[in-house]
Amino acid sequence: MKTFEELGKQKKVKILAIESSCDETSVAIVENGTKILGHIIASQIDIHKRFGGVVPEVASRNHINAIYSVAQQCLKESKLRLNQIDAVAVTYGAGLIGCLLVGTSFAKGLALSLNVPLLGVSHIKGHISANFISNPSLKPPFVCLLVSGGHTAVVEVNDKYKNKLISTTVDDACGEAFDKIARVLGLEYPGGPKLERLAQGGNPCIEFVKKNAFASGKNLSFSGLKTAVINYIHTAIQRKEKINNADIAASFEKAVVVPLASKALEQCKISGLKQLVVAGGVGANKHLQNTLKEMCEKHNIQLFLPDIKLCTDNAAMIASSAYFEMKQGRGKTNLGLVTTSSVEIDDD
Ligand code: KG4
Ligand code: ZN
Repeated sequence: MKTFEELGKQKKVKILAIESSCDETSVAIVENGTKILGHIIASQIDIHKRFGGVVPEVASRNHINAIYSVAQQCLKESKLRLNQIDAVAVTYGAGLIGCLLVGTSFAKGLALSLNVPLLGVSHIKGHISANFISNPSLKPPFVCLLVSGGHTAVVEVNDKYKNKLISTTVDDACGEAFDKIARVLGLEYPGGPKLERLAQGGNPCIEFVKKNAFASGKNLSFSGLKTAVINYIHTAIQRKEKINNADIAASFEKAVVVPLASKALEQCKISGLKQLVVAGGVGANKHLQNTLKEMCEKHNIQLFLPDIKLCTDNAAMIASSAYFEMKQGRGKTNLGLVTTSSVEIDDD
C-alpha cells in the first residue's frame, strides 16, 4: 500500500469519498482535489419531510439501503475501475453517529479490499473545500464564512490549510434558525430554500429585535431572533390579526444575513486578507450572496462562492479536503478511524 507521503508526491491522485453525516448519501471520485470525475448525491428529503426534520434512525437505515448503489453509480459515471482509485476518504464527524457509522464502515471495507489508504475528513473542512472545486485557482490564506445547518462561524484558513476560529454562534446555527422559522410558517423541511423563495415576494419591514446583542461583539446569536419571530407570529394569531408571511420571511432573512455578512467583512478588514470564501448550505441563499457581493465590491475583497450543488452536503467536497490535507502531510488515519458527533472548527 502507498503511504500518504508517496501519494502526496504523485502527479494525479484520484480519491473516492463518501459522505453520510446527515440525510444525503453521496459518493464522489475527485482528481487532485479539484476535478470531479464522478459524483452522486442521493437525498432522503422526501423520506424525512413528513416528520418535519431528519429522524436519525430512519436516516441511518436509508444510508445502508442506498450506499452500495450510490457507489456503483458514481464509479459508472467516472468510467473508472476500482483498481484506479488511489485512496478512500470519508466524513468521520460532525454528524449523526448512526449515519456516520454507515459511511465509515463502508469506506473501511472498500479501503481494505482495495489495499489503499483511508483518510478521515471533518465535515466542516469539507464544506470549506467545496470552494477549491468551484474555484480551482483559489489558494489560502482567506477568510471563510461557514453557514450550515449545524455550524455558523467566521474562520481564517492559513496557507497550510489550517483553520483558526474567529467567531461563532453562541446558540443556534443560522441554518437551524432558517429551518425552525420556515416550519412555523408552514413550510416543508428543509425550510431554508423555501423560506428564501417566500421572502422574494416580501418586504423586509418588520423589526423583530431592536438590537442583536451579539452582532456588535465577537460572536453571533440567532436564538433571540428566532424566539422573537415565533412570538410575533403566535401573538398575531392569538389576536386574530392578519400576518404577511412573505414580509415575515423577508424581514427574518435580512436580520440573519446582514450580521453574517458584516462579521465576515469585518474579519477581512482586521486580518488584511483580500479573499472571502463562503461555505455550507445557507451559502446557497441568494440574499446572502448578493449582500456579500455588494459589500465585497465596496471594500475591494474577492468573493468566492461554491456552486449551488456543492453548498449543501456532498462527497466531492470530502474528496477535495482529503487531498489538500494529504498534501499538507495530515489526514493520517487508518482502519481504526472513529466517528464523532462534533468536531472542532479550530485546528490548534
Ligand atoms: O451544509 P448543509 O447541507 O448541512 C449541514 O452541514 O448542516 O446545510 C443545510 C442547511 C439547512 O438548514 C438548510 O435549510 C439550509 O442549509 N439552506 C438554506 C438554503 N439552502 C439550504 N438556507 C437558506 N437559504 C437557502 N437557499
Ligand atoms: Zn453539511
